[in-house]
Amino acid sequence: MGSAAVTKASWLGVVACMMALGAPFAAMGEFTCCEVKPVLDACGSYVKMGGDTIPLDCCMNVLTLRNTVMNSSENQRLACHCIQDAALKVPHINVTAYGSLPFKCGVNLPYQFSLTMRCDKYVT
Ligand SMILES: *[C@@H]1O[C@H](CO)[C@@H](O)[C@H](O)[C@H]1NC(C)=O
Ligand SMILES: *[C@@H]1O[C@H](CO)[C@@H](O)[C@H](O)[C@H]1NC(C)=O
Repeated sequence: MGSAAVTKASWLGVVACMMALGAPFAAMGEFTCCEVKPVLDACGSYVKMGGDTIPLDCCMNVLTLRNTVMNSSENQRLACHCIQDAALKVPHINVTAYGSLPFKCGVNLPYQFSLTMRCDKYVT
């Protein structure tokens, strides 16, 4: 019975992110890296292995991110930093697959994914 609580505790980081996600985006400037986490989860295997097909989940999450949090230049910049930080931590990332991700999903983003993208220049 008590074991469920123990399991949950080890996922505390994840739970905290999900709570943030559940909150409405209404408050401007409340952007956290948690909001890009679903993208990283869904796209993680693709950016490591590459391949011809991108998981639909991955594209859906990229699209959702674009349609929700990326509507202000400040949020675009913050999201850029989150995405880049995460990408730099992916072991053996396939930079070709990573860089072509938004294009392959058919989602227009204000920046090209790369490990060297300069997020601060997206401030207007
Ligand atoms: C961005 O979208 C959120 C949620 O839809 C909205 O509350 C906010 O006002 C929008 N911001 C801009 C700058 O359009
Ligand atoms: C990286 O991804 C590209 C595009 O999907 C693929 O063509 C290439 O074979 C992958 N490279 C490695 C080393 O997996």
